[in-house]
Amino acid sequence: MPPRSILAGIGAYLPERVVTNDELARTVDTTDAWIQERTGITQRHFAAPHETAAFMGTAAARAALADAGAQPSDVDGIIVATSTPDQAFPATALRVQAALGVTKGFGFDLAAACAGFVYALSVADAMIRSGQARGILVIGSEVYTRILNWQDRGTCVLFGDGAGAVFLTAGEGAGIDQGILSTHIHAQGTLGDILYVDGAVGQPDKPGHLVMHGREVFRHAVTRLAEAVEEALAANSLTPADIDWLVPHQANRRIIDAMGRKLGLAADRVVVTVDHHANTSAASVPLALAEAWKDGRIKRGDLVLLEALGGGLVWGSALVRI
Ligand code: COA
Repeated sequence: MPPRSILAGIGAYLPERVVTNDELARTVDTTDAWIQERTGITQRHFAAPHETAAFMGTAAARAALADAGAQPSDVDGIIVATSTPDQAFPATALRVQAALGVTKGFGFDLAAACAGFVYALSVADAMIRSGQARGILVIGSEVYTRILNWQDRGTCVLFGDGAGAVFLTAGEGAGIDQGILSTHIHAQGTLGDILYVDGAVGQPDKPGHLVMHGREVFRHAVTRLAEAVEEALAANSLTPADIDWLVPHQANRRIIDAMGRKLGLAADRVVVTVDHHANTSAASVPLALAEAWKDGRIKRGDLVLLEALGGGLVWGSALVRI
């Protein structure tokens, strides 16, 4: 039997500064009522200049290692899911590696927008199952406030900053029932123009701002995520009744509620943080997981379904026995 990837520790970091809808409405042509009604968001965190993807990712990773009772010497590799890295290179993961005092193994960044954490979990899980590594930090860390177009009220009110991390360890032994049971990741590049950043360091004079055709993204999100949920359940011969917790990507309350209804899960079995974090892209799923883990809602033995979708389009799921 190949080893299982156990979520040995879970951690998070949020910038100190909280910005409410009302505060945003002082500089953006919007209202608290519009934002709440369309998205469920009431506030978000804004990173200070020193709170970069590497800084926040390091803090979340430290918290995950502490939660696991693990040391930097237990880390064989670091994967940071981010679309807002500190630098084109070195990878954010290597800045995290140095800050943590990890002196061995590998590190790289993974760009899959809001599905980045689920993608990174999938890659890390494959590496652990194949015996390439025994301890991997998987981090989602984002500073979307640095790529928002503050003149576009249709997008700038939707996002926030933060980081979440898990420390995966190889679990062995006959009949082990814990850990990542499955991951599924998908992409459809032909839909690249409905949600994108219009530049990057490789483009002349284009630092890049987020552009979104919200209604189209909404339509695809509901369809694709419903398919992803069905795929994860079918692959494990499970039914919605088996799921203890849904930890969805936190983009919009209406999409989250639609997924909860699809699974027939009571509202109190769906972890919701979009109201106080807004959309933190690759950080949103691990931030939500960390919150429900820390406050004791999610417990060891629970069956948890993670799902996410982002610009690309990219989407996927991970089914985990905590
Ligand atoms: N404040 C006030 N009014 C706003 C606004 C804001 N922040 N943003 C847009 N509006 C206005 C528009 O100008 C438009 O006005 P008009 O009818 O006078 O032209 C009206 O609200 C409707 O705009 P629209 O963009 O069609 O709204 P919507 O109902 O589609 O809701 C989203 C917008 C973004 C909330 C919604 O499309 C959505 O959630 N999409 C999915 C987003 C998502 O999940 N993205 C992340 C995936 S990773």
